[in-house]
Amino acid sequence: MHSTYAVIDRILADYLSKDGLPYKWLLAQTLATSIVRRTALEHLKLAHVSVADVGAGYGATCFELAALYPVQVDAVDRDATLLRWSQAMALDIKNNHGFHPLSTITFVKADACDLPWDSSSRDVVISRFLLQHLANPSSALNEWFRVLKPGGLLCVMDTDDGLSISYPPYNDSAVARLRDAIRTLQRLNGGDRFIGRRLAHLAHQAGFTIEQTIVLPQATFSSPSTHTLEVNILLEQVQQYREDLVYHGLLGEAELQALCSSTSEEILDWQFSTSNEIIIIARKPA
Ligand SMILES: C[S@@+](CC[C@H](N)C(=O)[O-])C[C@H]1O[C@@H](n2cnc3c(N)ncnc32)[C@H](O)[C@@H]1O
Repeated sequence: MHSTYAVIDRILADYLSKDGLPYKWLLAQTLATSIVRRTALEHLKLAHVSVADVGAGYGATCFELAALYPVQVDAVDRDATLLRWSQAMALDIKNNHGFHPLSTITFVKADACDLPWDSSSRDVVISRFLLQHLANPSSALNEWFRVLKPGGLLCVMDTDDGLSISYPPYNDSAVARLRDAIRTLQRLNGGDRFIGRRLAHLAHQAGFTIEQTIVLPQATFSSPSTHTLEVNILLEQVQQYREDLVYHGLLGEAELQALCSSTSEEILDWQFSTSNEIIIIARKPA
């Protein structure tokens, strides 16, 4: 059976192996979490509406929405490089008939807290894995409230590390120490990897009426070899944030190097682990 997402899957996988693609870990993570994301998007049942995906990253949410429904999507991100790559992917997907024929996607460079649109101009705002990175998530939610039409739909999806388990535990391994350093850096930059539990309160405070609160778990049981993929994503993140990790004193240069080298030796066991997305579906009152 030809799946709705077959063209998207093929093209995103092709891009993952392209030389020069920045933040490969972000695209790898996007592909690895597609089941949960698609379950959430299929739940929304949209048609002929304007959708803003804020913090779109590589655009998977936009692509999947545009494949599923006839929608006009704005992919918003503050990173112009990511937008350029996702625009190229979108063109390839469109040329291979991977979108609904009535869908369009526009790419917009903008800050989540300062969108370039009139008040009450959008039907739907979606944002996935962005709020955990913002020092002031309320400011973004207030802005999304502003641009939504009365009765407009908000869907925010994010994680909460309190819901993640793994067996056997990583404990004091190099992987655990590198992961902790990345998480601490995110916190020092104002982010919060436990934001999932706060999403409903934050949206409520911004004036939204909460319609549904959903938790979708994903579990993996990985062999030592596939598990290495997950560790590679971590190692890429460490390289990307290397200067900041050292600058904030979270890891010394030599320590960082030693931890990265020892990750390849310590992944010897099968690993069961879970991750979760907390999804809030809410409306701006009519
Ligand atoms: C972890 S990625 C999530 C990407 C995508 N939504 C997904 O689910 O895979 C976070 C994205 O938000 C973008 N971002 C971070 N802060 C932002 C801001 N203040 N305004 C707009 N985009 C922002 C980043 O450039 C990045 O592409």
